[in-house]
Amino acid sequence: MPSDSRQETKIAIYGVGQFGQYATRLAHQKGWSIVAAFNRAGDKVGKDLGNLAGLDKELGVIVEDCDQADYSKLDADVAIVAISNRINADMPAYERLLGAGINVISLAGEACYPYGVDEKLSSQLDALAIKNKVSFTGTGIWDMSRIWAGILLVGPCTEINSLFHKSTTDLERIGKQAVLQGGISLTQEQFAEAVKGAAAAGGLYPTISQHVLVSLGYTVTNSSERMEPVVFDEPVYCATLEKELEPGIVCGTRIIATVETKEGVTAETQAELRLFKEDELEYMLWKVDGKPSASVRIERDDSVHMTAASLINRIPDVIAAPPGIQLISQLGPLRHTALI
Ligand SMILES: NC(=O)c1ccc[n+]([C@@H]2O[C@H](COP(=O)([O-])OP(=O)(O)OC[C@H]3O[C@@H](n4cnc5c(N)ncnc54)[C@H](OP(=O)(O)O)[C@@H]3O)[C@@H](O)[C@H]2O)c1
Repeated sequence: MPSDSRQETKIAIYGVGQFGQYATRLAHQKGWSIVAAFNRAGDKVGKDLGNLAGLDKELGVIVEDCDQADYSKLDADVAIVAISNRINADMPAYERLLGAGINVISLAGEACYPYGVDEKLSSQLDALAIKNKVSFTGTGIWDMSRIWAGILLVGPCTEINSLFHKSTTDLERIGKQAVLQGGISLTQEQFAEAVKGAAAAGGLYPTISQHVLVSLGYTVTNSSERMEPVVFDEPVYCATLEKELEPGIVCGTRIIATVETKEGVTAETQAELRLFKEDELEYMLWKVDGKPSASVRIERDDSVHMTAASLINRIPDVIAAPPGIQLISQLGPLRHTALI
């Protein structure tokens, strides 16, 4: 995107919580213009977005009640939707924005590869975007390390037998809600009961290797997942809950997802969402068993920034993309915005 057109990029933020506010700060820092903000009814509605996002100035953008707003007058190139992890729950927001002819970037975990979650809803979303001549992309999942590292790793392979993906995420960086959703401080019996209900991240992790395998040309035939508690054999302090957790108490969730393909290639994802001990760094690992076998490990010091930056750095690609659902694997590797 040429620098002069960047100046004209007009962004709407739908969902002004943690990541909507972070995206606001990054977009403002890049000199992109935020033209509207929406949230469900509550104390954020009626406030200036700049104040809400912790900027030292007002932006002149008042947060509107998303159920009362008039989207037909919205003049934005792209909207960032950061309200939930599920495309079904986000659908009213997508319908309003795509229907108003605005490209959408969604933070919902399911939006990164919606076909792996709900084929019918994905087709509706794709048709809606095409009808309105705009694009829809899900990201925020550290698309460089979660998706693109896997795709690039196998570039030199002449044979592929299996893929393995592992990630560790420090839930305390994300916030208290994430700590509680990760089962931290539960007994193992309580964890087993909680997992029987709707686990917060349930169904999201199989879509990562589905997405990578499909982008590599494979046909997915089956996928499954299970969840285990992460426990340590020594006490660990949880700053968020202000207490020490004894050995055997749950310190997080390990999600193990497996995917099979028609061609016989399999993939396993192990995602640990948990407490971190001092000096531990978050990482993501991709391994291929094939010819040649290889692995790549990416460490990061700020996963929350990486999430918000994945949304912001995709803006130029999403505005330039053809209509319909555009997966991050179709948009090319993520590019930095450091020069903006
Ligand atoms: N794809 C990924 O890898 C990834 C990464 C990080 C986060 N996420 C997901 O992204 C979502 C947003 O994260 P967050 O940390 O920013 O959450 P958050 O701080 O809770 O912010 C969500 C915001 O959306 C608003 N909201 C919720 N439901 C809404 C609806 N139906 N319509 C309009 N506004 C609504 C909330 O309003 P009130 O607070 O006023 O109720 C809040 O302002 C979460 O579900 C999170 O799990 C995904």
